[in-house]
Amino acid sequence: MTKVNDVGEYVKIAETKDISKNQMQVFNVKEREILLINLEGELHAFDNRCPHMGYPLFFGSLKGDTLTCGFHSAKFNVKTGKSLGPVTSERLKTFPVKIQNSSVFIEV
Ligand code: FES
Repeated sequence: MTKVNDVGEYVKIAETKDISKNQMQVFNVKEREILLINLEGELHAFDNRCPHMGYPLFFGSLKGDTLTCGFHSAKFNVKTGKSLGPVTSERLKTFPVKIQNSSVFIEV
């Protein structure tokens, strides 16, 4: 584990070059799959499991700031993690992201 600015404990998961603009990628962190999304240059980190039935969100699609699960089409706002319907009202589990130099850290 790495401490960043004494704010909390953060784990390095990637380098900024590992994820292109408007793409998503899965990284394994402490036995969890973290879905990292680069939305217009801003990074967002989520548990890769869909809150509907737990299937991996990575197989979904990203259009603008909306992430759609590939299994039953639940939609989520990437900026807020909130559900946009239709099959669940549960929000995505999010993780704070910090960038230091070119390294990406998430708080787990
Ligand atoms: S598991 Fe994602 S919508 Fe059902």
